[in-house]
Amino acid sequence: MKTIVITGGNKGLGLAQTQRFLSDHRVVVIARSKGELDTLPHQENLEFVEQDLSQWRDTQWLDSVYEKWGPIGGLVNNAGMHLKKPVWEVSGDELENVLDLNVKAMFTACGRYVALHEEHGGAIVNLSSMGGLMALAGAAAYVTAKTAVIGLTRSIAVDAASRNIRCNAVCPGFIETNMTRAILAKDPARRDKIEGRIPSGQFGTPADIADAIHFLLGDNARYVNGIALPVDGGYSIGF
Ligand SMILES: NC(=O)c1ccc[n+]([C@@H]2O[C@H](COP(=O)([O-])OP(=O)(O)OC[C@H]3O[C@@H](n4cnc5c(N)ncnc54)[C@H](OP(=O)(O)O)[C@@H]3O)[C@@H](O)[C@H]2O)c1
Repeated sequence: MKTIVITGGNKGLGLAQTQRFLSDHRVVVIARSKGELDTLPHQENLEFVEQDLSQWRDTQWLDSVYEKWGPIGGLVNNAGMHLKKPVWEVSGDELENVLDLNVKAMFTACGRYVALHEEHGGAIVNLSSMGGLMALAGAAAYVTAKTAVIGLTRSIAVDAASRNIRCNAVCPGFIETNMTRAILAKDPARRDKIEGRIPSGQFGTPADIADAIHFLLGDNARYVNGIALPVDGGYSIGF
């Protein structure tokens, strides 16, 4: 059974990814809490490792998974944080927090994964965002980080291809989660406005993102490397 490691696979979009893989993979979730993991079926295939990824120099958690289960078939760098502020309101500490988790922790995890899998091959998916493809208003640190994710992904794709390791990014658009549902329930006009700008006219689901990641980590994507795949109902190519 292949082992898949998912950072932040305990809630939000990550939970749907964990669920997508659990039926036929061993999934190791890395996060600071168990979140909603207990609600999932196939608990026998699930392992939780508590780790604060903002301690980005520490990648021992990857070594521990590798030592316990052997080669890791896929790594999903999903854990991330948002910050809704324009550049002039972002403090030094806030900038550091966003970059530590969204970029540096991903960078060091990718580096350690490639080093450990030199002889085995493998695949990585990094979570970017529409904010990696375009400037989302009032989210300068987040947009900076998610754009960096795409550059990092391309670098790894080029450098690690000779080791039979692929690296791709996924850029989710507007996704229906408990959080977006709660926010937009209070502001139906905003929901209508957003939906009006999405060519497909609807929000995506966490399962849509999980399906794209499942494809990119699998053998059917063996010739797909270094892309930043929008999963956004066409939002990023429409106007
Ligand atoms: N939701 C969207 O519509 C959307 C759109 C575009 C891109 N994305 C990207 O997709 C990814 C998941 O988004 P989401 O909306 O599901 O986020 P979320 O609900 O806020 O969840 C964030 C995840 O990251 C983990 N995490 C946060 N800080 C951590 C830390 N210091 N150490 C370890 N784990 C940490 C959290 O678990 P703990 O708190 O338990 O540690 C949680 O599992 C992110 O990279 C996000 O930028 C999301």
